[in-house]
Amino acid sequence: MGKVRTGLSVSLDGFISGPNDGPEAPMGVGGERLLAWYSAGDTEYRLPGTDMVFMVSAQTAEFLKETRETTGALVFGRRTFDLTHGWGGKHPLDVPVFVLGGSVPQEWVYEGSPFTFVTDGLESAVEQAKAVAGDKDVGVGAASIVQQCIKAGLLDEIHMDLVHVLLGGGVSLFDHLGTGPIDLERTRVIEGAGVTHLTFRLMK
Ligand SMILES: NC(=O)c1ccc[n+]([C@@H]2O[C@H](COP(=O)([O-])OP(=O)(O)OC[C@H]3O[C@@H](n4cnc5c(N)ncnc54)[C@H](OP(=O)(O)O)[C@@H]3O)[C@@H](O)[C@H]2O)c1
Repeated sequence: MGKVRTGLSVSLDGFISGPNDGPEAPMGVGGERLLAWYSAGDTEYRLPGTDMVFMVSAQTAEFLKETRETTGALVFGRRTFDLTHGWGGKHPLDVPVFVLGGSVPQEWVYEGSPFTFVTDGLESAVEQAKAVAGDKDVGVGAASIVQQCIKAGLLDEIHMDLVHVLLGGGVSLFDHLGTGPIDLERTRVIEGAGVTHLTFRLMK
């Protein structure tokens, strides 16, 4: 069985997008800074199955390759799905995505769609994603889903691409937790260009 883990770009002050995200600015005001590291290095990484070419550090390229190979399914909230218009048709990692929401957008329901819309709760979405992922990992996002996974004890690992910026506001990754302290074990640190990849295991 793979892990359930996050994989989000996060500012040093804990935001995954800037203020006022919406159709005009899916990452919010200033939020594009969170993605600048994808073109801040000197090593080319071509994401298989897409025309996306990233310029990152050699260590980050290796890490991105590993992430692609070990991710079997994703669970995302409906806001991210809507803001990205379903990542233009399929997620860049080219794995099934389980979209948690209050309704099903019928225009996205068709034979062979990579998206499954889940309206019966977080546990159901994570269960379905795990079943599809098999030995591989399930990536979860965005903030509302991560917070619920932590509260429900479903999250095994926090991975964050820590971006060297203070955004000052926006969607906070660890808002609304309402739990006591949660101890973490740092399992990996990778220094990239304009980013530090950090991985922590949740102590259960
Ligand atoms: N930095 C990064 O790497 C990164 C990556 C992805 C996204 N983002 C950003 O993250 C932001 C979106 O995150 P977010 O936390 O605001 O929203 P989100 O998690 O993407 O989606 C929230 C929505 O998911 C649905 N939902 C959540 N829990 C549910 C449950 N238990 N049952 C049924 N439906 C549920 C609800 O949709 P309904 O309204 O349908 O009920 C809710 O409004 C955007 O700014 C996006 O650009 C950043």
